[in-house]
Amino acid sequence: MSLPVRSLTPAPADPILGLAETFKADPRPTKVNLSVGVYVDETGITPVIPSVLEAERRLLAKAGPKGYLPIDGRPTYKSAVRDLVFGPDHEIVTNARSATAQTPGGTGALRVAADFLLQTGSSRTIWLSEPTWPNHPQLFTMAGFTPRTYPYLDDSGRNVDVSRMLAGLRGAASGDVVLLHGSCHNPSGVDPDPRTWAEIGQVVVERELVPIVDFAYQGFGHGLREDADWLDGLAQPGLEFLVCSSYSKNFALYNERVGALTVVAADSARAASALSHVKIAIRSNYSNPPAHGADIVDTILNDPDLRAQWEVDLAGMRNRILANRAALVDALVAADVPGNWEPIRRQRGMFALLGLGADQVARLRDEFGVYVVSRGRVNVAGFSAANLPTVVAAVKAVITG
Ligand code: LMR
Repeated sequence: MSLPVRSLTPAPADPILGLAETFKADPRPTKVNLSVGVYVDETGITPVIPSVLEAERRLLAKAGPKGYLPIDGRPTYKSAVRDLVFGPDHEIVTNARSATAQTPGGTGALRVAADFLLQTGSSRTIWLSEPTWPNHPQLFTMAGFTPRTYPYLDDSGRNVDVSRMLAGLRGAASGDVVLLHGSCHNPSGVDPDPRTWAEIGQVVVERELVPIVDFAYQGFGHGLREDADWLDGLAQPGLEFLVCSSYSKNFALYNERVGALTVVAADSARAASALSHVKIAIRSNYSNPPAHGADIVDTILNDPDLRAQWEVDLAGMRNRILANRAALVDALVAADVPGNWEPIRRQRGMFALLGLGADQVARLRDEFGVYVVSRGRVNVAGFSAANLPTVVAAVKAVITG
C-alpha cells in the first residue's frame, strides 16, 4: 500500500507561518520581518512579560503531579476566562448562562467550535469577512463547513463598509454561522464602532444567525473592556453565540497554546448541555488540554497583584503598537508615499493593511527583504526606529515604481 496520491504533491506553504520559514532562510542581514503576528520589542525580541515570569516561578515552586486535566480544562481557569471576556458583573455571568472550555490556543478554540456546531446539527455554511485571517477559510473547510464571504471594507480599505456588510449578512440563511472578529480585525485593524455592532446584533437576531466571535486580541487595541465593545451588540436576550479567546498575544504565550471556547446560551441549562457536546468534540480530537500555559494565565488572573502587573505589561505592548502606528503614518506621509495613510493611526491591534497587490508584496520580499503578508498586511509591532526608514523607502519604491 502507499500514501494517497494527493499527498505526493507538496501542498503550498502556509500564507503566514510559511513566510516565517522563508524569512529565516533569507541570508540578507537587512531583512525585516513584518509578517507573523507576534509582538516584538524595539530590539526585535518577543519578551516573556514580567507577570508571566513571576507566575512561572510560583508554578515551579509548587510543581506537582502531571495528571490529566478535565476534558474541558481547569475550573479556575475557565471562570477566569469567562470573567475576562464579559466582566464579572455582566448579566451573562450572573445568570450563569455561559460555559467555557480550555483549548490549545485560539485556533484550537475555533476548531472545537466548528466541530461542536457540526456535530450538533448546525448549518454547514459559515460567513467570513472579506478579507479575513487566511486560516479561517481553511480551518472551517477542513472541519466540514462551506465558507461564504460578506463584504467588510470600503474601497479605501480604511473603514467598515457598514451598509454592504449588513446587506451581505442579510443574505445568510436562518441558522447559518457567522464569524465576527471581536476586536483588532485581522488583517485590517478596522473594527465596527458600537453603533455598527448594535446593527450587526439586529441582523443576527433577524436572520437567526449563529455568531462565532474570534476574540484573539483582547487588550491589544484600546484596553481590556474597550476591546469587548462588540458585547453590547451581541449580548441580547436569547441571542446565543460562541467566543473563541486566545492568550497568545495578550500574555505573549505564543508557544504555550493557551485559549478557550465559551458558549453563551439563553439559560444555564442550555449552556450546560452545550458544554457536554463541546467535551465530545475535545475528547475525540486531543482528549484534554495541555496545562502549563493555562496555569500561567490562571495564576495571573486569580492573583490581584499579578493581575495588576499583567495589565501594566499589556499596556506596555499596546502602547508600543500605538506609537508604532503613529510613527509609520508620519514616515509614510513625510516620504510622500502615495496613499491614504492617516486612518492607520486610529486603527486597533497588531495589523495594518497597506493595500498592496501580490506583485508589490513579492517585490518587497525579493528586492528589499521586507516580509509582509498578502495585501500588504504588516505586523505593526515589527517596526523599529532602525528598520522604519528602510521599510518606508521599499514601500514607496513598489508603489511608485
Ligand atoms: C497572524 O495572523 O499572524 C497570527 O494570528 C499568527 C497565525 O497563527 O497566523
